[in-house]
Parts: sequence; C-alpha cells; structure tokens
Amino acid sequence: MTLTANWSYPTAIRFGAGRILEIADACAAANISKPLLVTDRGLAKMDITRRTLDLMEAAGLGRAMFAEVDPNPNEKNADAGVRAFKEGGHDGVIAFGGGSGLDLGKLVAFLAGQTRPLWDFEDIGDWWTRANAAAIAPIVAVPTTAGTGSEVGRASVITNSVTAEKKIIFHPKFLPTVVICDPELTIGMPKSITAGTGLDAFAHCVEAFCSPHYHPMSQGMALEGMRLVKDYLLRAYADGNDMEARAHMMSAAAMGATAFQKGLGAIHALSHPIGAIHHTHHGTTNAVCMPAVLQFNRPAIKGRLGTVAAYLEIEGGFDGFCAYVDCLNASLGVPKTLTELGVKNPDIERIVAGALNDPSTGGNPLEMKKENTTKLLIACL
Ligand SMILES: [Fe+2]
Repeated sequence: MTLTANWSYPTAIRFGAGRILEIADACAAANISKPLLVTDRGLAKMDITRRTLDLMEAAGLGRAMFAEVDPNPNEKNADAGVRAFKEGGHDGVIAFGGGSGLDLGKLVAFLAGQTRPLWDFEDIGDWWTRANAAAIAPIVAVPTTAGTGSEVGRASVITNSVTAEKKIIFHPKFLPTVVICDPELTIGMPKSITAGTGLDAFAHCVEAFCSPHYHPMSQGMALEGMRLVKDYLLRAYADGNDMEARAHMMSAAAMGATAFQKGLGAIHALSHPIGAIHHTHHGTTNAVCMPAVLQFNRPAIKGRLGTVAAYLEIEGGFDGFCAYVDCLNASLGVPKTLTELGVKNPDIERIVAGALNDPSTGGNPLEMKKENTTKLLIACL
C-alpha cells in the first residue's frame, strides 16, 4: 500500500512523503500569491523551513517568514504577526509547524481583517459570528509534528499572557483551505517531542471517543486513530527514520483533531491551565493526567473502553486498557506524576478553577465539579 493520497475530509489534504514540493500549487489552490509563512523560533532555523522558503521563492511567492512565536503562543505574538502580515502586503498564510506555529498562523490569517480585539472571538456561544468572515485570509497548513492535528481544526489555542489562561479562539474559517501532510517533515523530531505529540493525538482520540455526545463519524475516526497510535507510536519513537510509522502517526494526529469536534474532557481541561501556568509540554501533560482521568471517569466509560480494548487486541477490557496506557507512557519515558513533570508548588484552586472554566470540561463523560476535580488534580500531582 502506498502511503500517499488526496483527501477532502475534513478539508483538502495532500498526504504523502515529499509532498511539501507541492507548496506553490497548494498556495495557488488557496488563492494565495503572496504568502506569509508563520512558524516558531526553533523551526525558523531548521532545514525543513529553509527548504520550504526556497520552494516558495523559486515559484515567485517570495520567502517572507514570521517566527516570533512562543511555545504557547499569546496575544503579543498575534499582534506582531498581524503587523508583519499587513506591512508585507500578504494575501494568505502558510501555517507551518507544531501546535504553536499552526495555531498562531491560523490566527494571523483570521485577525488580519478584523476590527474587534482578539478576545472578542473566544469560543463562547456564538461569539464567532462577530467576525467579518469575508475578511479572513486563506490558510495553507503544513504540520511538522504528529500530534496537535491543528491543521484540520477550526480553532486556535492562545494563551492570555496577562492572566496565564489558555483560550480557544474559534471560527469555521480557521479550517485551512489546503493541508500538506508530509511525514518526511517529522523525521527530525526529537524523541521526547515524538512521544509528547503522539500522546496528544492519542488523548484526542480517547477523549473524543469517551465524550457522551452523538457523533458516530467521530467515534469511528477516534477508534481507528487509537489503533494507529498503538501500532506505530513506539516504532516512530524507537526509529525516527521509520517513514511508515511517521506517516501513520501523522494520520492519527489529523484523525484525533477531526474526532474531537465531538468533545474532549478532563485530560484537556486540566492540561490547559497547567500548561498556561507551568509551561509544561501540552501532549506530555495530557499523558501524565490520562491514567487518573480514566479512573475518574470509570463508571461512565468502562463498557465503552472495553470495546476499544477488544478492537485494539488488548486483553482485560477496561482494566486492560488502563494497564496498556501505563505501559505505553512508561515505554515513552513519560513521568508518572505532574510533580515529576515539573509542576512545583501548584496553586490547586487556580488550576481547578481554570479546568472548570475550560470548554473541554463540557465533553467529559462525568460532570466535573470543584470537589471531584480537586481530588482528580491531586491524584495527578
Ligand atoms: Fe491536545
């Protein structure tokens, strides 16, 4: 089987090794003639970015890049990015990178044509309708990790640097017009990032699958996403050059993010405030929280995860699934507790308040309240 294909679900995805060569064609398909490539500081210096800029330049698209993007991108990065977009006279964005480059790139394309401030578009009720949709610039997304899945998402996670809160900014037109999923771009990812991002994809699939809302399409996608992680994450971790494993992990990432339209849950609800306050890696934080969250939700998800265990050929139903998660984390060098991850002297009340305020809370199978969420956080610590 060749791991190359064109998909149009949930958007146009050009999938396959080497397809970054189609970047100029992807820009043309998205009606972009003067793109601004948005990425993070670390990636800006890397060879894959230089080669992409070379491809853009060779096609007459220029080689404009904005890379003042923090690992947890914030409103200051957004302001600077919008300035660069306007000053450069750009007509679209190539969002390039892991979660931070993708999320900030999508946001710059969105904000450049808006007159209202960023926080007016937080994912609350119908606030997204406040946007001038016609002024949103087109986006081509190019993931360079396999986890966030932001390339197929309709939102960006942005940290409010004043309050240290992660906010979700949503608009249907955040969904990129064209995505290039080229697993070759993930070859150089360090082991710890391969693990952390891969486990983010896994958490998306697990939480989406367990979320109680009705969305059978998402259910199918989450289940198969978990299988891909089970079969290929350890392989990608053991040998970063294993292209087949890298390709399947890139699919799992896109599938997890497509699936979580159905909802997330307590893992992400906790992980967002912890990451915003303690600057821990998002996917790794999720992985540390997952075992306690599975036990927390046990009464509601025992049967459902039993079905998953059977599909994944894990013996022992729900308990077997939990044991598998412990084993996977251990094999990938994930710390057992948040304390080990570097969460020192946590303000428990503040994290719990942040978790209860997070939109992911609504997708958790059991209702999260102050008391049970406090107990859950303490179990993770
Ligand atoms: Fe996530």
